Amino acid sequence: MKTGFLAKLFGIVAFFAVVRLSFYAFKVGKHVPPRPVLLSDAEYRLISPQTYAYVHNQPRACAKRRHVSVVLLVPVAPDNHAARDAVRKTWGAPGPDTLTLFFLGLHGDASERLRVQEKVEKESQTHGDIIQMNFTDSYRNLTVKTLMMMRWLHAHCPQTRYGMKVDADVFVNTFRLTRHLERCPRTRFITGSVIGDGEPRRDRASKWHVSELEYDEDAFPPYVSGAGYVFSWDLAGRISWASRFVRAIPLEDVYVGLCLRLLDVRPVYAYSLVPYRGNLFEVRSLEYDRCRFAELIIVNGFGPSELVSAWGDFTRGSAEC
Ligand SMILES: *[C@@H]1O[C@H](CO)[C@@H](O)[C@H](O)[C@H]1NC(C)=O
Ligand SMILES: *[C@@H]1O[C@H](CO)[C@@H](O)[C@H](O)[C@H]1NC(C)=O
Repeated sequence: MKTGFLAKLFGIVAFFAVVRLSFYAFKVGKHVPPRPVLLSDAEYRLISPQTYAYVHNQPRACAKRRHVSVVLLVPVAPDNHAARDAVRKTWGAPGPDTLTLFFLGLHGDASERLRVQEKVEKESQTHGDIIQMNFTDSYRNLTVKTLMMMRWLHAHCPQTRYGMKVDADVFVNTFRLTRHLERCPRTRFITGSVIGDGEPRRDRASKWHVSELEYDEDAFPPYVSGAGYVFSWDLAGRISWASRFVRAIPLEDVYVGLCLRLLDVRPVYAYSLVPYRGNLFEVRSLEYDRCRFAELIIVNGFGPSELVSAWGDFTRGSAEC
């Protein structure tokens, strides 16, 4: 009886997704995206966080900090203790408006796994900011990790306005971030460095290689670069839902873009109002400059010690820029 009802409900929801997508296809004309098809259970299992179990979780992290407006979700390899420590000492330190949590899989090398896991255990007890699931932490499993973050945020942080997925080697200007978000939409919203002309690389030697079997269209829909992007809390739930229809592709930021297309949500480019400063999400790496960085939300490419020294200078002097 109950499963019958759920199946019907799912059918109705799927029907509206198709209607919505046809409408989108009509709007863009030539580039007609494929019809959304529910993945088979086997395909969905490959990417669904529900396939895995939590090794460490912090289910009350958001409930304890109700006034937080942005949760910073940082995917990081389990053995990268140095990067986590640098983030905790800098932009990841608990602030009035932000909360930072790290997302881990299991160390890939079986012979080292136990040793790495013991250190992670201690770190988790000391800091209470580690969320870990039992899939292998690898580049190609980053899509699983992203869906794990989306699902976690949506389930555990209903009071929070935004999530930000950000890599551990990024400089995050949390002051500019929270100021910028005051003017942004609260639902169906995602912003970052938008890539509007991405194409799959068919060259097998490339790190970003995508086969025709994995993705057969000749262009990607608009997506936000994975170094750092911000999305409204509701969108985390919508993306989790959309993943039921979108086959795994080993590029996590493109994957999110494919979910956005299905949801008919366009990623928003974040411009600076200061002329010539351009994109607030700088995905190239830039030499540290206090007043230049004061205008930006993220800058890519910081090692742990560079991050700590830049942040020290930044917090001492950026208010005077
Ligand atoms: C993860 O843990 C669950 C529960 O202990 C187990 O059923 C599952 O097989 C594990 N998965 C992997 C990939 O280790
Ligand atoms: C992803 O994690 C699962 C579970 O540990 C593992 O079986 C699989 O090989 C991993 N995939 C890649 C591409 O690393």
